[in-house]
This record gives sequence, C-alpha cells and structure tokens, in this order.
Amino acid sequence: MPGARITGWGAAVPEKVVTNDDLSARLDTSDAWITERTGIKQRHIGGTTSQLATQAGARALAQAGLTGADIDVLVLATTTPDATVPGTSATVQHELQVAGGACDLNAACSGFVYSLVVAHGLTLAGARRILLVGSETLSRITDWDDRAMAVLVGDGAGAVVLEATEGAGELLGWDLGADGSLRHLLKCDLGGYLYMNGKEIFRHAVRAVVDSSSAALARAGMVPGDVDLFVPHQANARIIAAAGQRLGIAEDRWVVTIDRYGNTSSASIPLALCDALAAGRLREGDTVLLSGFGGGMTWASAVLRWGG
Ligand code: ACO
Repeated sequence: MPGARITGWGAAVPEKVVTNDDLSARLDTSDAWITERTGIKQRHIGGTTSQLATQAGARALAQAGLTGADIDVLVLATTTPDATVPGTSATVQHELQVAGGACDLNAACSGFVYSLVVAHGLTLAGARRILLVGSETLSRITDWDDRAMAVLVGDGAGAVVLEATEGAGELLGWDLGADGSLRHLLKCDLGGYLYMNGKEIFRHAVRAVVDSSSAALARAGMVPGDVDLFVPHQANARIIAAAGQRLGIAEDRWVVTIDRYGNTSSASIPLALCDALAAGRLREGDTVLLSGFGGGMTWASAVLRWGG
C-alpha cells in the first residue's frame, strides 16, 4: 500500500502581540490568573484566515521545493472562514495558484488532525501532493468584553505538504471521533460570539485526548512509552499536563506553545509542530503523537513515524 510523508511545513502569525497585561488594562483579569489557569502569556491578533493560511501555505510549499502548480488538493481546516460562501480555501487556492482542488474542513479545534487523516486517505486514492493548512482568526468571533473567552484565543496558521511515497508512509495509526450530544458546550451561532462551558469542556477534553491517543497508538501497535514527541491541541496548559500525565508520556516530550500563541483552534497543532521542528526536537524515525479535541465535540489523533 502506498504511503505518504510530510515534506514541508510553515507557520504564520500576525505581527500584533497582545499580552496578559494588555488585557488586564481593560478587563477584570490579571496576568497571574491567566498564567495560572491557562498557561497563556500572550497571543497574536490580526489578519484574515485566508491571509494567514496563504503565508503559512507558501512557506510550507517553499520548504518542500514545490509551488501551487504541483498540488493536487488543498485542504484548509478552519472554524473561522472569511465568509460563509465561498470557502476560504478558494482564496488560498487563487493566491497560491494551486492546480488541483480546494476545500474547507471544519471539525473545530480537531480540524487539522482530521485533515491529515483525510489527506492520507486521498493519497490512497491517487493524490500525489496535498497542501494542508490550519488557519484561524478566533479574535473575529470573540467578545472582547467577555473575560472568560477573551483571554484564551489567538490568531495564526500552520501548514504542511504531504507527498505520496512509494514505500511505507509515516501514518502508523489514527483515531477520529465525535459526540454531537455535547455540541452545546462550545459554540458560536452565525454572526455571534464564541461561548464555552469551560469546566465541562475541560473534563471532556482530558478524557478525549487520553482515549483518542490510546486508540491511535493501539492501532499502530504502540504504547505511550513509544512516543518521542507529543503534539497536543493547545487549549490550556493544564489540559496538556493532565492528559500527558495520564497517558504516562514524560514531560520533556510534550510540545507546549500556548504561552506564546493562546488557543488558535485548528492552527494550534501545526503551529506547535513547526515550533518543535524549528527547535530541532524531531529526528527521522521518531514517533510523533498528534492529538486534538474541540467543539462538536470532536477529537482526532494520529501517530506518525517522522520521515516515513
Ligand atoms: N480573569 C479572572 N477571573 C476569571 C476569568 C478571567 N479571565 N475568567 C473567569 N474568571 C473567574 C470566574 O468568573 C470564576 O469566578 P467565581 O469563582 O467568582 O465564579 C473563577 O474565575 C473561576 O472560573 P472557572 O471557570 O471555574 O475557572 P477554571 O479554573 O475552570 O478555568 C478555563 C477556566 C481556563 C476556561 C478552563 O475551564 C478551561 O481551560 N476550559 C477548557 C477550555 C478549552 O479547552 N476550550 C476548548 C477550545 S476553546 C475554542 O475552541 C475557542
């Protein structure tokens, strides 16, 4: 069976940085509360979902030595599209001159890992090169007077190029899940603002990451002790710690970027992956566990052997 591997990656965040102190100046909150409860110190705010996606996508293509003309399919994971119609992927397709198809995928904060698994499926159907982007501007659907939400969110994008290989690919195991009976816990009505039941989401999130990661590892014939790098969705440093500890993955293997970016929904996992790669934390042959959860609720995990 043909496989696929990631051959390029790129990140993009808006220039504007908003610190906890900036927020504390206009909201009844504090750097101490935000840091202790969430792990966030700052977030980047600005731009549009298509602009950030285009920047991250261009960087991933350049690193893979490709252009849009080489791409069979563009999949853009986002929960904050520029418009209801057309899909934001249409703008990115045009900007990057992608030769093949383009579509949006919305699975909330699990969107990037969902896209990664779907993209591997596309390679089995004959696609050779796929550009995957997670891009969000959560700041546009946030009520900046609501301290409970305003301190959590950030904007940004991350992208990877996935190329089909002749031999075994990098995807060793995966798990996708959803439970729509929980959709009231985290939502944003059309034209409205994000609402979240933080405590309930927290409880379900830890269980979702642990169960979904375990299922993906089991499918790969592996156990948490085999994981060299754990790249979880960045919603709260305490969720990452609780899940990492319950799985039994050593803390020096977790990737934590929430302090700098806040929660960037479907951009958080590719941003964290790019961060780990820039820091030299990934080598060929390493086992990588990606795990996300989000509104829906949805959850998604993938186990990769880096380099295929
Ligand atoms: N600053 C100061 N105080 C605050 C703030 C704030 N920004 N926000 C809430 N508080 C207050 C509350 O009003 C409450 O006060 P009270 O005790 O007088 O009622 C107190 O702090 C404690 O509030 P809790 O909600 O119990 O705080 P908790 O420790 O649960 O932390 C948090 C809240 C950070 C939201 C946490 O529940 C969480 O991270 N949940 C999961 C978030 C998540 O994973 N979301 C999924 C994705 S989000 C997305 O997609 C955009």
